[in-house]
Amino acid sequence: MSDVARAPVPQRAPRTIVDPAELAQALTEARAAGERIGFVPTMGALHEGHLRLVDALRAPPPSTGLSPATLLVASVFVNPTQFGPNEDLARYPRDLEGDRQKLGSRGVHIVFAPTPELMYPQGEATRVRVSQLTDHLCGPFRPGHFEGVTTVVAKFFGMIGPCLASFGRKDYQQLAVLRRMVKDLHFPVEMLGVPTCREADGLAMSSRNAYLSATDRARAVGIPRAISQALRAHAGGERRAGTLRAELARNVAAAMDSVDYAEVADPDTLQPFEGDAAVPDRALFVVAARIGGTRLIDNAVSSEDSPATSAVP
Ligand code: PAJ
Repeated sequence: MSDVARAPVPQRAPRTIVDPAELAQALTEARAAGERIGFVPTMGALHEGHLRLVDALRAPPPSTGLSPATLLVASVFVNPTQFGPNEDLARYPRDLEGDRQKLGSRGVHIVFAPTPELMYPQGEATRVRVSQLTDHLCGPFRPGHFEGVTTVVAKFFGMIGPCLASFGRKDYQQLAVLRRMVKDLHFPVEMLGVPTCREADGLAMSSRNAYLSATDRARAVGIPRAISQALRAHAGGERRAGTLRAELARNVAAAMDSVDYAEVADPDTLQPFEGDAAVPDRALFVVAARIGGTRLIDNAVSSEDSPATSAVP
C-alpha cells in the first residue's frame, strides 16, 4: 500500500443519498467545482477487500499512472437482477449502518444506497450484455448474472459519471467483462483492478463467507490451497492443461461439497485450455465450488499472483 493510502483519513460520516435525483445534483455541483469523481460499486456487507477498493481510488498504484480521485462515491445496493431464481438474494447479508461507518473511516464522501424501485423505476427494458467473455466459467452456471451486473454498473456509471472506478480481481471474470463493456460502450472511465484481499489463512474475503459454519469455514481454505498448489506445479514446469486442470479439480473437490468448475484459462479471453494444450507462462487458475449451500469463487494469475507474491499460502 502506498504512503497516501496509509495516511490517516479524516473521520467523518459520509453523506448518504437514496434518491438518484439528489445524487445527480450533488455530483453536478462536485464536477463544476473541479472534483475528480472516484466510484466503488458494492452490494454492502463490507469487509477489508471492499475497503481496499476505496484506498485504490485515493492512491492508485504508481504503475497505473492514474491521478487520485478527490471525491469518493461508493454504492451499496444488492442488485436483484444479477441473482438467479434459486440464489441468495433474500438472505444476502445487509448492514447499511456498519457499511457507512466503514466507508467513512476510509474517506468516502458519498454513499449511494438506492432502493430497487428507484434503480429500476420502469422495470428493465434496456439491458447491457457482453458476449464471449461470459460464455465460460461462471457464465453457464449463473444464467443472466453478468447481464445483471453489466446493466447495473452501466446505470451507475451513467448516474455518477466517475473518472475512475475500482473493482476486485477476486471477481476476475466480472472485472474482465466490465472492462470490455467500458471499451465497447466508450465509457470515459478508468478501470482499476485491485488484488484479492485474503484472510490470514488465504481464504479470499467475501460477504458470503458469513454463511459458513465453523467447520465449513475451515474446509474452505482448501480452495486457495488448491490454487496455490496448481501455481506451484505450473511454476515447476508442468504445462499440460489437462494435468494441471485435473489436479486443481481433484484438490478442490477434496475440500468442498461440489465443484462448479476448476479451470486453467487464458487470462484475457477467459477461454479454458483443454487436454494436451500447453499452458503459457501467464495463465488464470480459477475455481467456483460449493460448501454447505454456499458458493465460493477464487482465482490467481501465474506471474501476476504467484505464490511468492500473493497471500495465497
Ligand atoms: P460485491 O460482491 O459487494 O463486490 C464489490 C466489489 O468488491 C467487487 O469489485 C469485488 O470484486 C470486490 N471484492 C469483493 N471481495 C474482494 C476481495 N476479497 N478482495 C478484493 N476485492 C474484493 O461485485 C459486486 O458486489 C457486484 O457484482 C457489483 C459490481 C457491485 C454490481 O452489483
